[in-house]
Amino acid sequence: MKTRWYKDAVFYQIYPRSFCDSNGDGIGDIRGIISKLDYLKELGVNAVWLSPVYKSPNDDNGYDISDYRDINPEFGTLDDWKEMIAGMHERGIRLVMDLVVNHTSDEHEWFRQSRSSKDNPYRDYYIWRKGRGKNGKKPPNNWTSRFTGKAWEYDETTGEWYLHLFSKKQPDLNWDNPKVRQEVADICNYWFELGVDGFRCDVITYISKAEGLPNGKFNPIMCGDEHFVLGPHIHEYLKEINEKAWSRYDTMIVGEAIGCKYVNAPELIGEDRNELDSAITFELMDVDMKMSFFPVKLNLPKFKAVQTGWQSLPENCWSTLYYENHDQPRSITRYGNGYGYYRNQLGKMLALSYFMLRGTPYVYQGQEIGMTNIALKDDEYVDIMATRVFTLIKKFFPPLMPIARWAMAKRARDHARTPMQWENKTGAGFTDGTPWMKINPNLGEINVKTEQSNPNSILNFYKKLIEFRKGNEIIRDGSYTEYFNSNKSVYCFVRQLGSRGYITICNFKEKKVVLNVDTIPGARGAGLVMGSWDTQDAVLGDSILLKPYEGVVYEFGCDTAGN
Ligand code: NOJ
Repeated sequence: MKTRWYKDAVFYQIYPRSFCDSNGDGIGDIRGIISKLDYLKELGVNAVWLSPVYKSPNDDNGYDISDYRDINPEFGTLDDWKEMIAGMHERGIRLVMDLVVNHTSDEHEWFRQSRSSKDNPYRDYYIWRKGRGKNGKKPPNNWTSRFTGKAWEYDETTGEWYLHLFSKKQPDLNWDNPKVRQEVADICNYWFELGVDGFRCDVITYISKAEGLPNGKFNPIMCGDEHFVLGPHIHEYLKEINEKAWSRYDTMIVGEAIGCKYVNAPELIGEDRNELDSAITFELMDVDMKMSFFPVKLNLPKFKAVQTGWQSLPENCWSTLYYENHDQPRSITRYGNGYGYYRNQLGKMLALSYFMLRGTPYVYQGQEIGMTNIALKDDEYVDIMATRVFTLIKKFFPPLMPIARWAMAKRARDHARTPMQWENKTGAGFTDGTPWMKINPNLGEINVKTEQSNPNSILNFYKKLIEFRKGNEIIRDGSYTEYFNSNKSVYCFVRQLGSRGYITICNFKEKKVVLNVDTIPGARGAGLVMGSWDTQDAVLGDSILLKPYEGVVYEFGCDTAGN
């Protein structure tokens, strides 16, 4: 059944709340997406990952689902959704939905039932335990929630605690219960029957918890990981859903794979494993960020080593290539001076630095126009992560507030969630009403309309690059060799298939760099294909002078010995 179409796909991620609002309520919606399908077609992407649009009380903006089979009314109706997917398919765009099944909302009917009594048939759909200590008033173990604080909530009704690795409104499902696994397979099949082409599986590496739920190694912020990240039954459970649902249609299943590093990736994504087709790794994100929000300086050799690791996976593994999504800050601000003079070159260089790799590239909404982080006051942050961190620090460690502010200014999830900047007018062309979240004041400079009218824009560069990748066998199947791995400014790699190949050279620094490339076979005489500046030599010599944030691709036709 599997054609593995995703190997030729370029994905665009839509965070529906912030993409396009059709009815003026300030919240993006499905009809808004429908109105932008031609934009996606023109950009050239052939697949969309849509963040959750299911019914949800929005404690975590849709990642807390209360009905897996229906659409949140603020986004529209199931009929709108059907029109959307039909419109995508007409345009040759596949749709991958978000599957959030490590947890549900506490407002899901299963949880309402589950919490109602100890002998309710749904009790065992979730993870309930007695508390420790006298009267059971201490949580069952020391695990922490990824959103800070303890991972357990006491429930008066039955006098027991339930596990929630995210907010207390996101109780964890008990995957050890075969009924839960059957429900998950049924949900997948329901959407496959409606035409969905695959799923991005939210925190899928958390689903199997260690037997007995033992205490984790002490860590006040992230405690317990060793007992639920890639837990004891993960492979068994994934194989089961794969057998019952994912393998029955021509799908792509990509897992959000926290804890999955390139060394253990083959166990999860090897084609012979019948588990996931690909993994969204955090390994690259962790190079300059600790505990999901604390920034550390980018160490380019480390960054490159991670990319090289994933590029060196066995043939039967497939990578996911991304810099941005709804949980990450804007790459143009993260990896360079996104507000600076060389913004345009930086945006293009970053695009080259991952689009030329082996794997499926993802573009997050707004990345294609170089949207940046936003400056927010404490009370303008809306995401649960930032607001919880601030509340906690203000309450218990007020002197640490300046550090928290600094960290959030760089790494909060809010940066990715500001409304899409379609044009320079009130509401940014995103809404005619009051936007649910602050619009970045730089919309005058950065917006789709302006980028469309400038042939040298980041947007037009993405279009060119997406077109260039289409059907390009060297990029899809070619070998990968990294050069100058310890160089702190430049990322340089060669992709080669037979006698042809591409040399990609990217300067991550805002200053000039000279690189001797005479050690790269085929470099001398290679012809320029594209670059982030328009001024580079058409033919590559023994060395190259790279301008600030210059990224270039040269093509050669020779064997590995350079003949
Ligand atoms: C990962 C999602 O990407 C994130 O947005 C969400 O908060 C958590 N999983 C919990 O579902």
